[in-house]
Amino acid sequence: MDILREIGKLKKEKNAVILAHYYQVPEIQDIADYVGDSLGLAQQAVKTTADVIVFAGVHFMAETAKILNPGKLVVLPDLEAGCSLADGCPPDKFAAFKQKHPDHLVISYINCSAAIKTMSDVICTSGNAVQIVESFPKDQKLIFAPDKNLGDYINKITSRNMLLWDATCEVHDILTTEAVIKLKQAHPDAKLIAHPECKAQVLALADFIGSTTALLKFTAKDVAKKYIVATESGILHKMQQQSPEKEFLVAPSDETCNCNDCPYMKLNTLDKLYAALKNGKPAIELDADVIEKARIPIQRMLDISDKLGL
Ligand code: 13P
Ligand code: SF4
Repeated sequence: MDILREIGKLKKEKNAVILAHYYQVPEIQDIADYVGDSLGLAQQAVKTTADVIVFAGVHFMAETAKILNPGKLVVLPDLEAGCSLADGCPPDKFAAFKQKHPDHLVISYINCSAAIKTMSDVICTSGNAVQIVESFPKDQKLIFAPDKNLGDYINKITSRNMLLWDATCEVHDILTTEAVIKLKQAHPDAKLIAHPECKAQVLALADFIGSTTALLKFTAKDVAKKYIVATESGILHKMQQQSPEKEFLVAPSDETCNCNDCPYMKLNTLDKLYAALKNGKPAIELDADVIEKARIPIQRMLDISDKLGL
């Protein structure tokens, strides 16, 4: 069977669209109708006129697409594709934390469950976190959940003192200054670029910090010829496609470890994607009241982003 032809045929028959995150394996990125970061994917989910959304990403992303499209079928090739940030913020514990700080508003990183979104005032992604935080007056007390590394970074650059939930992305948080410094010493001509889900010590060494899309745009227009990329390995596919003459090294470059591969993102395969499209499952199901409540902070984020042209 020619799987690519079959996927193309099924897409037409079912009026389906394939949305993929940059961390997906190259063969999925190459057949997707749209490849983007979390913000771009949420924006595409709003725009699509398809009846079926095949979401090649992780569970919280597919949930967001379902919240924005309650009437459409949203399938995720592997339902086990979770996220350490979403798992690190259990709704009961977060509800108790929020109750202790009744004068605080809640900004949640999109990497959280739908239940956490229902308890949030506004959602953000790494691509708009600064602008979302700055949309609040300086004296507004804020909780930022669940990514403490991103929250700490945003606190620093916006001079805020948001209360931070203590969860991390297991892929970015594992990157160490030792490994990065070693690689920098071996490649003194390379620029270090990092995603803000990395630890503060790693970010302190970076020449540029940004969301997945921001990192990609930076490498396309920057003059350097070599980059140490402190984020998930999947992004290298697009970086290399956009700038074939440049060299990209993942940090840490340790042949014994696939630390830069998100184990959840990498659960999706072309075969599973084909099966999900063909069978219309596994589908994302959410209660109507969860959809209604979770949509409000997501819509607020989309409106702010639209207004600012993000
Ligand atoms: P962005 O897509 O916002 O860059 O976030 C990266 C990430 O870890 C997604 O799970
Ligand atoms: Fe979650 Fe990190 Fe994987 Fe993104 S890369 S899905 S934040 S575990």
